[in-house]
Parts: sequence; structure tokens; C-alpha cells
Amino acid sequence: MFSIFRSRHPGTALINGEPVLVDPKETLLQAALRQGIDFPHSCRVGGCASCKCKLVSGRVRELTDSGYILTDEELDAGYILACQSVPKGDVHIEVDLSQQRARQQVAGKIIAQEPLTHDITRLVVQLEEGLAYKAGQYADLTLDCLPEAPRSFSFASPVQADAKVSFFVRRVPGGQFTGRVCGESLIGQGITVDGPLGDFTLRPGAAPLLLVAGGSGLAPLLAILQDALGHGVARPVTLLFGAREERDLYAIEAIQELAKQWPAPFRFIPVLSEAGPDSSWHGAKGLVTAQIPALLEPGAHAYLCGPPGMIDSAEALLREAGVAREHIHADRFTNRSQGPASTRHPVIEHQQEN
Ligand code: FES
Repeated sequence: MFSIFRSRHPGTALINGEPVLVDPKETLLQAALRQGIDFPHSCRVGGCASCKCKLVSGRVRELTDSGYILTDEELDAGYILACQSVPKGDVHIEVDLSQQRARQQVAGKIIAQEPLTHDITRLVVQLEEGLAYKAGQYADLTLDCLPEAPRSFSFASPVQADAKVSFFVRRVPGGQFTGRVCGESLIGQGITVDGPLGDFTLRPGAAPLLLVAGGSGLAPLLAILQDALGHGVARPVTLLFGAREERDLYAIEAIQELAKQWPAPFRFIPVLSEAGPDSSWHGAKGLVTAQIPALLEPGAHAYLCGPPGMIDSAEALLREAGVAREHIHADRFTNRSQGPASTRHPVIEHQQEN
């Protein structure tokens, strides 16, 4: 009886020292946003770790298991996901708001829609002013003609001096945003870019790099490589690019050009999972992750971007091969309609949509 009585009353969360009332069953993120705190977040379903914060004192009930998205070190240090944490009584949390301070909403116009494959379009936006981001990060995009449907996409190139930004948009069946971008001319239309978001960025070091991309997950990895080339990074690179069929491959020339200029060994291996018996494809076949054990260089650090299944499989193989958790960086994406927040792979509408 006592616990039922208590659960009907709001608790208090001290967020960076600021008291916030949390209604029963409310998550920390919901309470913070409701009371005007610009708490970092994106997916709201436990899939992106944008809302990561440190539980200094108190206890929370977790709606989904955060163990697969937070590192062992973060879990040991008491990190939780605010969007998945319902306080059990009063709590004290600390959150890094520096990224929020850097976040900007910049208006722009669509200046190009270039089909890359039958279902992926490169969207190029001329911003009204420059937006500072790091290669590998992403932004929320809102079309003026679709104000209720912001969607998240990775920047597909490093910061340009001319304030142009580009994104790879894959058409999702029934998707409002992607249907417009991939199916209609939007040249001259207004769009707002809200970011930067995420921390999928290249960490400093000299270790060889293993990059694994699935589908439109190539975007942040290309941006990272182009940016690294511009900064004189000379680490050996192995880039695995998984696609279904030959018609799903794109940006091949850009990658080959990168490889030519790269000042250290650069291996590029496109892998097709559905190259049929009639296919003229002579390259690697099967799941892209199956290539990892043979191509992993000793001491390599891994950067993975693609659907959750690919990431999970790559992470398992890398861990099995002895790569430390802190040297595996992953950016998962999938589409919002694939499952509820309670599934093991909570959905982040990153690069895709419902
Ligand atoms: S907003 Fe909480 S994990 Fe994405």
C-alpha cells in the first residue's frame, strides 16, 4: 500500500543541480523537456544514446535494456538513458549540455536531388549560414512542406566553406519524408537543418581503421574519410560496404578516388548479399560482416554504420576477435515503423523513416 501511495506522487530530479518535478511513470527526459530544460535527445526510444546522463544518486526503472548501447565503462560509471529511465523516488543526475549549446537550427534551400541508386538520393542543401559539425554527426531535417515530419540523417560530407550540406536519403516504402525527397522535385524548397547531433566521430590515434557500412550507412563514413584525408590522417583503412545487389552500390568512384589519395594502405571491399546466380558480380558475396575476421588488422579500431542487425553482428565478431568495446564505435539506424520501443533494438529514425 505504501509503495502504491508513493508512486502517485511526483518525485524530484536534480538535473545539473536544477530541481525538476517528475510525474509518476514519467521518464526523466519527458519531465526535463516538459519543464523547459534543453535536454539532449533524438530518438526517444533508447536507440541513439543522445540522452545519456550520469545517475549520481537515487534509483531508476529502465524501460529498455541500455546495456547494448552504453559501454561497459559508462554503465560502471552510472550512466543511464534519460528517455528510458523512470525515477524511483528522488534522483540526482548530471548531463553534458555542451552539445546542446552547439546545436543550431539553420534554414536552407534544396539545391540538388541526385539519384545515387534506385532508392537512394543525395540531397544537397544550401544553408543560409554555416553550421559547425564534425564529420560523422547527423542532423534533424524538416521540409517546409512537411513541418510535422522531421527526419534524422547523417551529413554525407565534411563541413564545406560554402555552407552546403548533403545527405543520403533512402526511400522507405510509405515514408512521407523520403517519398518526397526521392520521388518529387523539391528544388528551391525550404528546409531546416537542426544539429549537429551524435558522437559518431573519428577518435584521434594511429590505429588501423576498420569501417563497415550497410546501405545508406555509408554517408557518415564517407564524411569521416574525406575529413580525415583533408587533415592528413595516414592510418591504414579497410572499408567494407555491404549492399544487396549491384544496383544498390553507389559512390564507388568517390571511394576509389579517396583510396588513390589516401596516404596509407586503403582497402575497399564492396560485398553483395543477394548477388544471384545470373549476376556478373565477381566481388565478395554474402553478409558484409562475414568479411570481418579475415580482414581485421591487429589493433584496429572499428566504426560501424548501418542497420541494427549488421551492427550487432559486427560488434559480436569484433569482440570475439579481441577488439575492446571502447574501440568499437557504432551508429545504428532503422526505420521507426519496425518495432516498438520495447524491442531489443529500439528504433532510431536515423537516415530512414516510417
Ligand atoms: S533519446 Fe534516449 S536513447 Fe535516443
